[in-house]
Amino acid sequence: MKNQLATRDFINGLPKAELHLHLEGTLEPELKLALAQKNGVDIGQTTIAEVQASYNFNSLASFLAVYYPAMDVLQTEADFYQLAMAYLTKAHQENIRYTELFFDPQAHMARGIAFETVVNGFHRACVDAHAFNVDAHLIMCFLRDLSAESARQLLETAKPYQAKILGIGLDSDEHHNPPLKFLREYGEAVAQGYRITMHADIDQVDSIQHIQQALEIIRVERLDHGTNIVENPDLVDWVAQLKIGLTSCPLSNRLVADDMKDQEVLNLIDHDVKVSINSDDPAYFGGYINDNYEAIANANQLTIDQVVTFAKNSFETAWISDVQKATYLTEIDEYVENYLKD
Ligand code: ADE
Ligand code: ZN
Repeated sequence: MKNQLATRDFINGLPKAELHLHLEGTLEPELKLALAQKNGVDIGQTTIAEVQASYNFNSLASFLAVYYPAMDVLQTEADFYQLAMAYLTKAHQENIRYTELFFDPQAHMARGIAFETVVNGFHRACVDAHAFNVDAHLIMCFLRDLSAESARQLLETAKPYQAKILGIGLDSDEHHNPPLKFLREYGEAVAQGYRITMHADIDQVDSIQHIQQALEIIRVERLDHGTNIVENPDLVDWVAQLKIGLTSCPLSNRLVADDMKDQEVLNLIDHDVKVSINSDDPAYFGGYINDNYEAIANANQLTIDQVVTFAKNSFETAWISDVQKATYLTEIDEYVENYLKD
């Protein structure tokens, strides 16, 4: 019966897409320490316990203050490959069939790492993941607390590698960094053929104005987080009608905003908004995608039908063809049918 409660076992086997995942946010303490040692980088911690003790954040800004320095351990193309491959292996275990992965080249270039080192390492892992049937693509993010000029230069630098990058995103500190700061760069990205999305982080100063700029002026195809739209019924209608995806991340919300924002997610689902469940920075926020599905399912006693809606939304709002969408949706239906038979 599709109205039976969704268990972890059901969630584990459910085919799904992950659309909001920062590759640098998958750097687990073990790999961080191993790369620090290999590359002779002093990160100020030498044990897993010490690394974990440094994860004491309660806001986006305090999280980013831990997140960026950790990237120092990533030095060579092989390091970037190893990081992405560790995530993609995990994605396979979690029955992620398709994923679009954020990465932050400016954070690496600022510390002297070449763009090609980053993109080639990450992209090679995406290609190799096809061997275990995970279809992975890259979304290059502009860091919104850097200048528009820096984002423009990044687009230029990326030109020879464009075939390796599917879309453009916007992340980092949203405070005083509105979408319109990057209006021209987003226009240029669309002209170059990139798909576009951007973060609208939880409970930011001017959240609604930022979301309006993103949706109505820049016309992004998805919003990352973005659940503050519940405050404005016109925006809810807009995203529902245009089938704009919202990529929600319950465990990350719980750490930076003290609330999974599950009531907002369920309210938006009731209004036919295409919300999906994702893991954001799983090495820092305490769980991968199935942990995120389980957290929202358990807290709200969600049924199989409700959880299936999240997974279907993830494929419906992915940057794939209608034929691919139909194939994945059929895979979900077959999984549910078999699951209920057993
Ligand atoms: N960079 C990595 N994770 C992020 C998040 N959740 N919001 C903004 N920037 C980020
Ligand atoms: Zn994010």
